[in-house]
Amino acid sequence: MLMLKRLRSTLKKNKKRNLITYTNPESIITEEFRTIRTNIQFTSEEHNCKAILMTSPSTEEGKSTTVANLAVSMAQQKDRVLIIDANLRNPRIHSIFKLNNSIGLSSVLSNKKKFTEAIKETNIGKLEVLSSGPIPDNPAELLGSYEFSRLLDLASQTFDVILIDSPSVLDYSDTKILANQCKSVILVVRNGRSKTEKVMEAKKVLKLAKADLLGAIINQVS
Ligand SMILES: Nc1ncnc2c1ncn2[C@@H]1O[C@H](COP(=O)(O)OP(=O)(O)OP(=O)(O)O)[C@@H](O)[C@H]1O
Ligand SMILES: [Mg+2]
Repeated sequence: MLMLKRLRSTLKKNKKRNLITYTNPESIITEEFRTIRTNIQFTSEEHNCKAILMTSPSTEEGKSTTVANLAVSMAQQKDRVLIIDANLRNPRIHSIFKLNNSIGLSSVLSNKKKFTEAIKETNIGKLEVLSSGPIPDNPAELLGSYEFSRLLDLASQTFDVILIDSPSVLDYSDTKILANQCKSVILVVRNGRSKTEKVMEAKKVLKLAKADLLGAIINQVS
C-alpha cells in the first residue's frame, strides 16, 4: 500500500482551523495537502477514475477533515471538484463548510430532488458540495441503489474529481457498498490510533469489495 503522506497535527488547537487549506494557505499543513493532491493525481491517472472514496478502519480518524482540505487544495489548482458526503451516519461536511443540510445526497437518492438542485456552490474556486441531506433510515440500501451509480456517472461528466466522505469501513456495511461502486479508495489512518490489525482488516474488506486501494494518509503526526 502506497503511503501518500503523513499529515501533521495543527488543527486541534483551534477548531476554526478545520479548513486550514482555506484559512491558512501558506501553512506547512496546506503544503502537505498539496503533496497529497499531487500524489493522488499520479495514482488516480493510472487507475483512470474520477471518484475517490475516502474512508478509514475506525471512526474519528480524520476522514471528513482530510476530504474537506484536500478538496480545497484541488479546487485552488482550478480543478472542478465535488465533495459528496456519503457518511449518512454521522455527516460533517456541511458543518465544515457551514452549509444548510436540509437537501442533499439522501434527497437525490430517494428521488426527492435532482442532483443539479441538490449541489451547493462554495466560495472556494470551483468547489461544490453535495452534503448528506437528512439522515435516512436505510443508508446502505440508498448507497447501493441504481440512483447512486447514476449520480456518480452524472457527476463524472461535470467534475474533474469527486471526493466521497464515508463512515468507517469496519463499522458499517455502507462503506463496503460505496467501495464497490467507486473503485478507487484512500484510507485515512490516525497515527497511533488505528492498530495494525485494523488496517490489515480494512485492506482485506476493501479487496473483497473489489476496490482499488490507491494508498493511505497517516493523520495527526506531531
Ligand atoms: N490532523 C489533525 N490534527 C488535529 N485534529 C484533527 C486532525 N484531523 C482531524 N482532527 C480532529 O479530529 C476529530 C475527528 O475528525 P473527523 O471528523 O475529520 O474524523 P472522521 O474520521 O471523519 O470521523 P467519523 O468517523 O465520525 O466520520 C475532529 O474534531 C477533527 O477536528
Ligand atoms: Mg467524518
